Amino acid sequence: MDRQKRIGILTSGGDCPGLNAVIRAVVKCASRKGWEVYGIPYGTDGFIEIAQGNRQPQELRLYEHGYDIPGVLQGLDVLQFLSGSVLGSLSKGDTEKPEVAAQILEGYQRLNLDALIAIGGDGSLDIIYSLAKKGGWNLIGIPKTIDNDVPFTERAVGFDTAVDTVTAALYDLTFTAASHERVMIAEVMGRDAGHLALHAGIAGGADAILIPELTPVVNEETIAHLCEKLASLREEKRKFALVVVAEGVKEGSTEAGKNIGNFVAKHIKAYSSRMCSLDRPEFCEMENVDTRVTVLGHLQRSGTPSSFDRLLATSFGIKAVDLIAAQQYDRLVVWQSGKVDSKPLETIIGLVRQCHEEHRCPSPVDPYGFMVGTARSLGIYIGDPQVSTPQTEYSENGKSATPEPELVSQN
Ligand code: F6P
Repeated sequence: MDRQKRIGILTSGGDCPGLNAVIRAVVKCASRKGWEVYGIPYGTDGFIEIAQGNRQPQELRLYEHGYDIPGVLQGLDVLQFLSGSVLGSLSKGDTEKPEVAAQILEGYQRLNLDALIAIGGDGSLDIIYSLAKKGGWNLIGIPKTIDNDVPFTERAVGFDTAVDTVTAALYDLTFTAASHERVMIAEVMGRDAGHLALHAGIAGGADAILIPELTPVVNEETIAHLCEKLASLREEKRKFALVVVAEGVKEGSTEAGKNIGNFVAKHIKAYSSRMCSLDRPEFCEMENVDTRVTVLGHLQRSGTPSSFDRLLATSFGIKAVDLIAAQQYDRLVVWQSGKVDSKPLETIIGLVRQCHEEHRCPSPVDPYGFMVGTARSLGIYIGDPQVSTPQTEYSENGKSATPEPELVSQN
């Protein structure tokens, strides 16, 4: 048996399915080594609670039977079926304030931990990495996010389930769309990445998918191509359509994620009516088509974790424990080419910081990659090939180097 260790685990940033499956795997695996595991509540805020004496270290111990449900469902295993985080999570913290950071560091010290496993997205891992540097913590990161935008890992915990959730929603929307011959627009999360919209759009049978990597801003050209796609479907006697729009796609200069679905709906109608009046009969039917927008919102962060997410979460948790056993710290557990591996946090956080400074996504969809190619091969409208990626669009000062495209007329 390894020398007994005391390790901490916390979840930080937006929740997603699979967090509890990581916690379960870590507690099971570490307990079998005879280690003590402490569950830090509400991300790094839990350390403040300890520093202030509001919680005692022993209250945070996680045991094999810590999550028994009254009756016959006993043991940690129930955790892998539950979404959310049993530890609670922290979306925004004040760690930049020196007094807050000092309390977090003090709480960590009082717990006398040998290492900390932090399950987070790029933003929260960046914050925790800074704290770890200040406090000399032995840190292991585990990537989680429905956005799947953590660099150096092909998959983050939670993404697969979110793809299933959005795919199921598109399936459900298909029948009501068909019954009323409507255009259904589904607005999908993903922050400034289009992975979720792209994967679910393909799996859910979308006719058009707008993602920030290929359609950073909805302009006149986007609407024209989208309407051409929708009109051609109607000519082929497909009287309904599904359009997936990622929240990261912008409407002109306004912030991403603010009613982009409604914006697209409004301009489909305006453009079709303009074309119809210009003697383009194929758009006249479109002009009267009912368009409805569904914003899937936080439902995308819930749902029973898929089997893949449970397997990923479990193998990530076990890899984190193995790294601690081998005293290989400051690493992010990653999934690459079908295998669990780890990469230095320093490299990953360096890239994340640079991308955030330049207002670009640290791990965007590859506009020339296989998934985009798949969508195009299916005839899905997914933006225009000549559009450059946001990576090449931003100048050094982080402002868009390309002139803002003209918006479709509001009339
Ligand atoms: O990063 C995960 C995510 O769900 C994004 O897809 C979304 O933009 C954001 O979090 C929503 O954050 P909040 O829960 O704070 O509204």
